Amino acid sequence: MPIVPTHRPRRNRKSQVIRDMVQETHLATHDFIYPIFITEGQNQQIEIKSMPGIHRFSADRVIDEIGRCVELGIKSFAPFPQVNEGLKDRLARESANMEGLYLKTVADIKRQFPEVVLMTDVAMDPYSSDGHDGIVDAESGEILNDASLEVLGQMALAQARAGADIIGPSDMMDGRVAWIREVLDSNGFSGVSIMSYTAKYASAFYGPFRDALDSAPKKGDKKSYQMNPANRREALRELALDEQEGADMVMIKPALSYLDVIREVRDNTQLPVTAYNVSGEYAMVKAAAQQGWLDGEKTMMEVLTSIKRAGADAILTYFAKEAAEVLRRG
Ligand code: PBG
Repeated sequence: MPIVPTHRPRRNRKSQVIRDMVQETHLATHDFIYPIFITEGQNQQIEIKSMPGIHRFSADRVIDEIGRCVELGIKSFAPFPQVNEGLKDRLARESANMEGLYLKTVADIKRQFPEVVLMTDVAMDPYSSDGHDGIVDAESGEILNDASLEVLGQMALAQARAGADIIGPSDMMDGRVAWIREVLDSNGFSGVSIMSYTAKYASAFYGPFRDALDSAPKKGDKKSYQMNPANRREALRELALDEQEGADMVMIKPALSYLDVIREVRDNTQLPVTAYNVSGEYAMVKAAAQQGWLDGEKTMMEVLTSIKRAGADAILTYFAKEAAEVLRRG
């Protein structure tokens, strides 16, 4: 006689209403932070080849784009600049130029949309002639940690002056959260938040982003500051330091290959946890969908839900607009 099951988990899956009733994780448009690429010029909207559906916008066009997003319920943005090659130098001086593309656009967005939250990026790479997040020693090629802090602090201060709500240090230099906190506080910006890129891995998934900004390192790689993808405990060490140094929120990046790290960090902090669903993760789904090999929309929603299930409170994602459209349709 076959044994009749006494426990039947399938009962909780028997209809859409019941499935909805017992659903544990819910995505909402307010979970999303939308990264947005800004470029020089006027009336520019250039699609990034390796990121179908994602564009670089000139300052005038980015305002329209943000308007469309706000309409959809997206209220948080992470702008990144594509800087003209001629403006780059060893010390990333352009990064603190209040009249430069980035800071002027940030100020303009805040003027037009005071209610949106802008998280600005602190790292030298878009402005560095070396394409690194810190200063490169001309002789040894080493990344100079403490000298870089000076530049990063000035960059963060300029961003706060431009109206940034949240400073997002993505550079992975040691001690930068404490340094930036001190610079902000001593200049009257104690209300500006820091979302630290706490565990940022030296990942191959950043390729399309570097295409978008022309920001790839000219020499070498980022392994002396970004983390080894093989390491989990090290993320907890970075977490402890960021908490001690005064981070308001912490981030794991990338997201999809690091769901275990998201969970680990979630279980070890009371701070909000965010995850960056990076360019390469977006490109993979888009490429497969274009080939007809995956259902792009379903895959997108599954990816985003899994990041949230792993423990992320908010997600930086290039899918923000598309996912917001799906959520609006219901
Ligand atoms: C640079 C920075 C990178 C990303 C965000 N900030 C690239 C890098 O570290 O080389 C990647 C984001 C993405 O791939 O979507 N500090």
